[in-house]
Amino acid sequence: MATALCPGSFDPVTNGHLDIIERTARHFDDVIVAVISNPQKSESLFTLEERQQMLREETTHLDNVRIEFFKGLLVEFAREHDAQAIVKGLRAVSDFDYELQMAQMNQQLSGIDTFFISTSPQYSFLSSSLVREVARFGGDVSSMVPHAVAKRLAERFGEGHNPS
Ligand code: PNS
Repeated sequence: MATALCPGSFDPVTNGHLDIIERTARHFDDVIVAVISNPQKSESLFTLEERQQMLREETTHLDNVRIEFFKGLLVEFAREHDAQAIVKGLRAVSDFDYELQMAQMNQQLSGIDTFFISTSPQYSFLSSSLVREVARFGGDVSSMVPHAVAKRLAERFGEGHNPS
């Protein structure tokens, strides 16, 4: 039974993330989408519960995928869940440096291997942070995230919100 982790902040989940999760689910018996509870990059837009809920709603068609969260080191979570692989999407060369560092560190810490899947070309420009920025200023993100996520973004940045 080979279990893979798809880790990330998912703030919010994008069509690019879902593409990677779906493709990972074709290659492994069991896939755990590991949502980091406290992203370090910035204050998150959505709570952990919201980020998990959106992922659950968008992955109901994938029987071998489940959504969990983790705190601390990813390799500890991998050990606890007996996962053999970490799977990441690579969008462009600019992703590679940092992803390689993390893959090597995780390998050094625990022996777990990281597998990279090349992002589908239509998603190579896509990131949660850009989606948040576009949505914050009223741009159309309907082709970048699932309908329900676009709706939540519109609500979050809707009436009463003052982008500054
Ligand atoms: O979606 P993101 O924000 O690019 O995901 C980054 C994430 C959560 C996968 C990465 O920051 C991570 O694995 N954090 C957990 C802490 C950890 O294990 N750090 C050592 C990695 S070398």
